[in-house]
Amino acid sequence: MDASEFDSWMRAELDSVEQALQRWVSPDAPAGLGEAMRYGVLDGGKRLRPLLVLAACEAAAGDRNAALRASVAVELIHAYSLIHDDMPCMDNDVLRRGKPTVHVKFGQAQAMLAGDAMQALAFEVLTPASAEPDGFAPALQARLCGLLARAAGHEGMAGGQAIDLASIGRPLDEWKLRDMHRRKTGALLQASVLMGAACGELPARGWESLSQYGAAIGLAFQVVDDILDVTQASETLGKTAGKDEHCNKPTYVSVLGLEGARKQAQTLRERAQAALAEGGLRHTARLSWLADLVVDRNS
Ligand code: IPE
Ligand code: IPE
Ligand code: MG
Ligand code: MG
Ligand code: MG
Repeated sequence: MDASEFDSWMRAELDSVEQALQRWVSPDAPAGLGEAMRYGVLDGGKRLRPLLVLAACEAAAGDRNAALRASVAVELIHAYSLIHDDMPCMDNDVLRRGKPTVHVKFGQAQAMLAGDAMQALAFEVLTPASAEPDGFAPALQARLCGLLARAAGHEGMAGGQAIDLASIGRPLDEWKLRDMHRRKTGALLQASVLMGAACGELPARGWESLSQYGAAIGLAFQVVDDILDVTQASETLGKTAGKDEHCNKPTYVSVLGLEGARKQAQTLRERAQAALAEGGLRHTARLSWLADLVVDRNS
């Protein structure tokens, strides 16, 4: 697959995901909540997690309807995590996806509730009634809910965020830093890959290879986020640059230095590509391109 093929696949999928999010996140939620939810999740974001779900589903020759719902669910959890991450009690950020953050625009209480409602909506999306035209088996619904819940909760994102806040001003060793990054960011990216894979049937070797791939790009993603925080401008990032140093957060750059962090990102890219190659799966070209995108991106 060449770059232009990957690009047109990506554009078409981004379109499907955007439309599905538009359908799912209703403006009708009461007292302005719908507006805050839509502001937080629509029209912005790279949608990398949905793309991983859809590419992994293809590698597993899985159920496209289930994967599209899974891609919406995972983006809802991610967008909710960003809304809360930006609140004054966490990173206290005013800029996200090139716009004022949700709490700046709608107030803190509404931002908290928008995040809460988006988290619940993610699981609603994953549990279609049997009469729904794009429904799928209850066993797969339960599996997808389990993968997402574990990645979002105390073992994953929320746990990692707790470590992040508890680590302000503390020099972490590399092992602890890796553990924090795997949880706060890696878990949801790995779950995106596994949720896509779960929409199909894979032999153990294929599943293991996608799991390793997901772990490697998941960690790489946050290593690169740490790098971009020091190398890019706010206008490119759509969020405030230089935030980590300003808030005294331990990051891959503060612990390993910029060159060390860059090397780490390359090593993780190679690990991801090697894991893909070992799985014996035929349709992994898009996952391979996505691994490169994670490491080579500039925002
Ligand atoms: C930013 O995630 C927060 C992290 C987990 C590092 P993204 O860089 O995927 O943010 P969007 O979705 O593109 O805005
Ligand atoms: C956030 O990490 C990870 C989340 C779970 C949201 P950061 O705090 O570094 O993310 P940005 O840089 O604000 O996007
Ligand atoms: Mg944070
Ligand atoms: Mg932040
Ligand atoms: Mg960051």
